Amino acid sequence: MSLRKLLVDVHTHVYLPRYASVLRSRSNAPRILTRYTPSGQSEDRLLILDDEPSGGRPVGAQYWDRDEKLKFMDRHGIDISFVSSANPWLDFLPFSEAQTLARELNADLESYCATGPSVVSDANFKRLYGFGLLPLVPGAPAESLPAAVSQLANEHPHIRGVIIGTRGAGLGLDDPALEPLWASLAETGLVVFLHPHYGVGAQAWGTRENGHVLPLALGFPFETTTAITRLILAGVLDRHPDLRILLAHSGGALPQLSSRLASCIDHDPVLLGRLAHDARWYLGRLWFDAVAYGAAELDFVSEAVGRANRYARGGGKERKEGSSRMLFGTDHPFFPPLGETEKWRSVVENLEAIEGVERWSEEEKAGVRGGNALRLFGLLGTTKMTTGTG
Ligand code: URA
Ligand code: ZN
Repeated sequence: MSLRKLLVDVHTHVYLPRYASVLRSRSNAPRILTRYTPSGQSEDRLLILDDEPSGGRPVGAQYWDRDEKLKFMDRHGIDISFVSSANPWLDFLPFSEAQTLARELNADLESYCATGPSVVSDANFKRLYGFGLLPLVPGAPAESLPAAVSQLANEHPHIRGVIIGTRGAGLGLDDPALEPLWASLAETGLVVFLHPHYGVGAQAWGTRENGHVLPLALGFPFETTTAITRLILAGVLDRHPDLRILLAHSGGALPQLSSRLASCIDHDPVLLGRLAHDARWYLGRLWFDAVAYGAAELDFVSEAVGRANRYARGGGKERKEGSSRMLFGTDHPFFPPLGETEKWRSVVENLEAIEGVERWSEEEKAGVRGGNALRLFGLLGTTKMTTGTG
């Protein structure tokens, strides 16, 4: 089988055993607690969100056991996974503890990947790669971050990126103190996976019990939208053209709101002359997972990304293939089926969504399923960002 036909999951999480035991040792969120049902059965629950609804979520081996990850991959035909720590990462720790734990967890993740199986059709490729952690926590001294980035890039060959939340060192991703971080990430080529955790505040959700639906369906993507927009408005993508950012959940609302954003910028004297390009141009500088659960949404994102180049100031007006910036993901082990099923509905829906984009050629679909990820993460060479021919 050609490597370009592989199914590659770029959005899949783990709570490594060392991290899970930190969560078990805590008495406030984020934590894992054991509770007992009326019939005396014990059950582990995960409490991680601010104002966690429904007493948290059931948690088990799917969240930490590598064999469970591989079984899930086999069951859904996933050849390669780029595994990332799940939220809230190290955000709740003081910097010195976060620094130590980040180093330990990155070493754990390297071994999780390196000692795992290889792709059957090509033993040069492992089935597991990773996104590492940085001690990017509130109060982190920004000058310490480039060293953490270099260590990750130099010492862990199976770690191809970092996963980060939206708060940076406490002031968000537009904090000028983070400049050395962006510079070092751009220099190493590590892919920055930007992922939400906090949502937009529980007061937005009212008092009716709606489980996790509102924070997950709306709060998560709005949080990502705000964070990446602030980063763009701070000129980070202008100053660091080599920075490679992958947005969770297909970029939240950014593609849908990008023309409105451009118009607001054009009508605000504070922003006059600040950015090198029209706001819509930056869509073409980003990567988007295809965790949107619907063909119409994927089609829309790829159209918006494909048109981005037309908004370059001073040239480069041709339309590009927006799908080449989009990559399949599952969000495993979140969104498990509520009843017994062979395949997870959340995965099947994301695969059907890719299949259902009528405007995409078979080549483009193969790219979104795997080829684009292999190129982005340097497994097929990094020079060409077009989709492969199989
Ligand atoms: N819920 C989470 O807390 N994290 C995810 O990544 C997905 C769902
Ligand atoms: Zn996720």
